[in-house]
Amino acid sequence: MHTSNIAVVGLQWGDEGKGKVVDAVAGVSRYVVRYCGGANAGHSVQIGQEKYALHLIPCGIFREGVVNIIANGVAFDPQVALEELAALADRGLRLGPDRLVISSAAQVVMPWHKLQDSLGEQALGSAKLGTTVRGIGPCYADKAMRSVAIRAGDLIDADALRDRIRRIAEIKSATFAALYGAEPIDAEAIADEYIEYGRQLGPMIANAGAILRNACRNGERIMFEGGQGSMLDIDHGTYPFVTSSTVTACGVPSGAGVPPSAVGTVVGVIKAYSSRVGTGPFPTEQDNETGEWLRRRGQEYGTTTGRPRRCGWLDAFAVRYAADLSGVGELALTLLDVLSGLDELKICTGYELTGRAMQDYDATVLAEAEPVYESVPGWAGDISQCLSYADLPAAAKAYVTRVEELVGRPVSIISVGPARRQTIVRRSKIEGLS
Ligand code: IMP
Repeated sequence: MHTSNIAVVGLQWGDEGKGKVVDAVAGVSRYVVRYCGGANAGHSVQIGQEKYALHLIPCGIFREGVVNIIANGVAFDPQVALEELAALADRGLRLGPDRLVISSAAQVVMPWHKLQDSLGEQALGSAKLGTTVRGIGPCYADKAMRSVAIRAGDLIDADALRDRIRRIAEIKSATFAALYGAEPIDAEAIADEYIEYGRQLGPMIANAGAILRNACRNGERIMFEGGQGSMLDIDHGTYPFVTSSTVTACGVPSGAGVPPSAVGTVVGVIKAYSSRVGTGPFPTEQDNETGEWLRRRGQEYGTTTGRPRRCGWLDAFAVRYAADLSGVGELALTLLDVLSGLDELKICTGYELTGRAMQDYDATVLAEAEPVYESVPGWAGDISQCLSYADLPAAAKAYVTRVEELVGRPVSIISVGPARRQTIVRRSKIEGLS
């Protein structure tokens, strides 16, 4: 099947600036689909002077005529969705069922998932995973359990939902009391709350997979919006310090209900340096003045949790691995402007493990890996007003070229600031993107 569809995925540890790239590609798409993760994501988009931070609602909402879909692969938190919808409505953006569809098969995040996330992390003490405490892991665990799961479609039938919540709350109360000495869960209050969510969101809950497969048949362009970053993928990331869904482009078919052939061109988003929030290995981390400088310049504080992000040099070895996993066709390089002012930049080209070069990337042994760096010259001036590739200083162009060589893919989008106009598009195969 020939398709003009596009998947936008992060190739690092999340926070690569996907929101801005999604917003750009949404301008030439008919559907924008979240297929993984949940309200743990934080996607930022700036329209004019207005800044938006979205957690659950797809970033295609700022483009008129785009239908946004929260697909079956998402851990759907109705409370967060309604809060986001209300905040958007306050700012003049009202979304109805013609603009936002929620898959009836999406798993619902329940209050006991957030409680379990929080109690579980506390119990782990210094061994905690550093989750966003949004209930993501427990929600996906219950999806796999099946008997204690609730899907968005279940929110619509109030009586059946109340029965189900009573039954599950009993199991959860007994489990949490035994494990953590927790108080019993108030099933009736939760049932009242979630029945009300179902009433409000009901008109948007639909068979999203069918809508998307019809779109494929009709040749309407879909963009799949990845959440988190590939190094946080449940299978291929730095396990166990990962999130709980398949965030690479491999997650698109099952997470959205489309065939693998519908994935289309994969755009891999990378930040010009690296960051990570939460615990886990991060070989190029600069726990020093350079890291502090990057954090300050890049305003690297979590969109979802406000936590300071750990910062370090670009890891081209990891990015290449992530690009290979998702079959990335082209790269979007973001926050290049943040690097302005450094005399020298470093790029990690590989790792050494007990003195020997690692041949194939192995995300399971990173704690012992020593990064191997290459130094390249930095540039001095502000590049945030460079609106074409030709305007960039020679050293910035050389940095872009070196990234392309090391990752083995062209950089077709360069972002030099948060505004839409601060986006340089060059040699992209995405039709209509300029
Ligand atoms: P969880 O997804 O809340 O279970 O968190 C697991 C790990 O993934 C933690 O290290 C989080 O900080 C990280 N994480 C989850 N979502 C994001 C994201 O959207 N951006 C960056 N890190 C994330």
